[in-house]
Amino acid sequence: MKRNRQPPVAAITGGASGIGLEFARRWIAGGGSAVLLDLSQPTLDIAIAELDYKARGVVVDVTDNASVLAGYRSIGEIEGRLDAVVNSAGIARPGPSSNVSDEDFTLMLDIHITGTMRSCRAAYPLLRDSGGGTIVNLASVAAISGMPGRASYTTAKAGIAGLTRTLAVEWAPEGIRVNAVGPGYVRTAMTDSLVAEGKLDDAPIKARTPLGRFAEPAEIAEAIYFLSTPSSSYVSGHLLMVDGGMTVDGNWFQ
Ligand SMILES: NC(=O)c1ccc[n+]([C@@H]2O[C@H](COP(=O)([O-])OP(=O)(O)OC[C@H]3O[C@@H](n4cnc5c(N)ncnc54)[C@H](O)[C@@H]3O)[C@@H](O)[C@H]2O)c1
Repeated sequence: MKRNRQPPVAAITGGASGIGLEFARRWIAGGGSAVLLDLSQPTLDIAIAELDYKARGVVVDVTDNASVLAGYRSIGEIEGRLDAVVNSAGIARPGPSSNVSDEDFTLMLDIHITGTMRSCRAAYPLLRDSGGGTIVNLASVAAISGMPGRASYTTAKAGIAGLTRTLAVEWAPEGIRVNAVGPGYVRTAMTDSLVAEGKLDDAPIKARTPLGRFAEPAEIAEAIYFLSTPSSSYVSGHLLMVDGGMTVDGNWFQ
């Protein structure tokens, strides 16, 4: 973190829940201040209470550019600087590719890829004017694997990995590092609701994960924190898999 009197400021899309909220907790514990950007005021209020009122929340829909711009404008006006961005807004909507609607497919790309781009683009002048900074985008094991019934999600996450690499090169001269994390399966509201809807069975996932379990959100937050602090000062354009070994598993023998 930068050595100045004001704590470093992080903006987190999807910050009211799951991985984003857990990163906010980690960032605050490390001495930073956090601004959560998420869809609704009631969920932001609950998240901010969970953070002992040490964060600020702004209602932002990453599919709406005006709301993204307004969220970052408020950071310029209130916090006056920006040091780290985490793009964690996302949804999962599995279904067969043979009859996916244009609307569903495009919505997924809009939230994940264009939403991430909108957030990065709006954050850029604040990061640059604060002397550089970091962006961490949420990819997934879905960025580098074929997953039946998840065409829009895998396409979106692969797109996020590509966007991450390009921004890392393009914004390096401004001292902005851009990385992504690729979680395996994590216990959050997203996976809990898929299990409840019968769209995800955790037994085969555990069986095919070398570490044999889902991740806790804090384990993903710690990797994002590493990529958001000077501990990773020479890492940029990287997709860090945090997946319990899932995507390197070559054990076809038992
Ligand atoms: N949970 C997992 O197993 C897992 C695995 C790999 C990647 N991811 C990715 O991590 C990110 C966070 O997921 P999570 O598990 O913490 O989910 P979550 O549902 O707990 O949190 C996601 C948050 O994003 C917000 N959000 C959704 N659409 C939004 C929009 N249009 N604008 C602003 N905010 C919006 C939601 O309100 C919610 O607070 C997502 O990008 C997800 O795809 C999750």
